[in-house]
Amino acid sequence: MSKKVLVISTSPRKGGNSDALADQFIRGAQEAGNQVEKVSLYEKTIGFCRGCLTCQSTQHCVIQDDANTIVQTMLSADVIVWATPIYYYGMCGQMKTMLDRSNPLFSADYQFRDIYLLAAAAENEKHTVQGAVTGLQGWIDCFERARLAGTVFAGGVTSVGEIQGHSALTQAYQMGKHV
Ligand SMILES: Cc1cc2nc3c(=O)[nH]c(=O)nc-3n(C[C@H](O)[C@H](O)[C@H](O)COP(=O)(O)O)c2cc1C
Repeated sequence: MSKKVLVISTSPRKGGNSDALADQFIRGAQEAGNQVEKVSLYEKTIGFCRGCLTCQSTQHCVIQDDANTIVQTMLSADVIVWATPIYYYGMCGQMKTMLDRSNPLFSADYQFRDIYLLAAAAENEKHTVQGAVTGLQGWIDCFERARLAGTVFAGGVTSVGEIQGHSALTQAYQMGKHV
């Protein structure tokens, strides 16, 4: 069955390493017949959550910016894929900001079930991605019907384009195919 897949590329670097993972995931998911939408945060204006909690009663954020449109797309997606660079052993600030801004979904009838994480980092150790996994899991734990369905980690890549030929690209493609 065709699924609505939303891929959120959060790196500030256009065409960077995690963005390349996102594109491979998309290629796989599209080939498998799914309906895929990609959102790149580097071209969006997204302010920090103000913590007012107005969204708990209104299901809308008081800030008028691009996050609102993204949250509406998240609401009706079956699958959400987060692509992030590792910054200080965690997800990048852009991704965390977007997770916080998705708080209007907390009390909404969201559709998403499977959540994926795609991450790239300079270091190539197992623990390098762990902080990002834990951070995303913390968000997922607040959405009972959702689960972390898979993680792809590309370690040992620093500059834009360095990921070329990395086995994680194939893993991301395969994960997309079986979404
Ligand atoms: C602010 C900042 C913090 C970073 N922190 C880490 C880190 O803790 N561990 C690591 O292995 N790489 C770290 N890096 C390197 C990036 O993860 C690496 O360059 C990655 O390939 C960037 O992915 P992107 O091209 O998708 O933006 C950091 C880079 C920046 C700019």
